[in-house]
Amino acid sequence: MIKGKKILNILSLIIISTLIVGCGNSGSLKSKKEIRIGVTLYREDDVFISTISDNLEEIVKENESNYDFKIFLEFVDAKGSTLNQGNQIDKFINQDYDAICVNLVDRTAAATIIDKAKSADIPLIFFNREPVEEDMNRWNKVYYVGAQAEQSARLQADIVSEQWISNKELYDKNKDGIIQYVMLEGEPGHQDALIRTEYCIKSLNEKGIQLEKLADDSANWQSDQANSKMTQWIKEFGNNIEVVFSNNDVMALGAMYAINSNSDLIKKPIVVGIDGIKESMESIKAGEMTGTVISDANAQAEAIFDIAIDVAQGGSLENIGDMENGKYKKLPHTKVTIDNVDEYLK
Ligand code: GAL
Ligand code: CA
Repeated sequence: MIKGKKILNILSLIIISTLIVGCGNSGSLKSKKEIRIGVTLYREDDVFISTISDNLEEIVKENESNYDFKIFLEFVDAKGSTLNQGNQIDKFINQDYDAICVNLVDRTAAATIIDKAKSADIPLIFFNREPVEEDMNRWNKVYYVGAQAEQSARLQADIVSEQWISNKELYDKNKDGIIQYVMLEGEPGHQDALIRTEYCIKSLNEKGIQLEKLADDSANWQSDQANSKMTQWIKEFGNNIEVVFSNNDVMALGAMYAINSNSDLIKKPIVVGIDGIKESMESIKAGEMTGTVISDANAQAEAIFDIAIDVAQGGSLENIGDMENGKYKKLPHTKVTIDNVDEYLK
């Protein structure tokens, strides 16, 4: 009798667990053998973008065994051309991919892409280059993963104000109590470039620090362009430059190169970047760049992955926390100076 009851208990356990597992698989989620995700990059040679794509590849490898379907991830490089990118997206759509991740070449030109994906019912995850709000609202299966640009600017300002206040005799070269600065901006019209440029200055003003702009210009996120801009500014303003703000790290490294090559004309100013790439960490460690602000490429890649896998199965992002308006996921930053750089060089 006891034995019979035991068997009955085991049987009901099996039935219940089959039911639970069964529910998990059905519901609103499509069950698939393979999920195919297409990723188009505005430029594969952009250092920060390649960090995101490397992380994404790694995350897929690490997580594949957690799913009962295969994950196929394909990267394509638009090489800075909207035409290339349009063709790449058409191809993903024609091949019926389950989700498409788009790092837009032109962030103002998302409408056509969204309309095409909508008619094929393939969800879109934009990242790093944010479509304008009007376009984001064209369809409900459109998402964006990026960084908190205003926060990165404010952290960059914190690094500058801390250095300025504690080493004024070193950096206030003309002893007028005002920061004479140059600003290396990212690509014109890029949301991160616009917001970073505006808020680092605003934030310093709010701290009661006075600034005087000597020059600013776009170096399109690129090191060689920043090097030549900075070389020109050093020739023009020499040692009057007290702070170099850069919207990203590779431009800050380009400026550093110009400063080192012209050490007869300029003593080291405060130099700050954003992104937290390996080369800038090494530069901080070597006492060259003053600081950077990490834009967490791994967390951004994780968010892209989580959203893509969920929407590719027809999910509704219930398990993705901190989504603004159900569409936006913006990851926070961390600041890095000589005081904590060792943590990140490991
Ligand atoms: C920014 C990043 C830049 C560049 C750009 C590309 O967020 O700071 O280094 O990668 O994105 O869109
Ligand atoms: Ca000064």
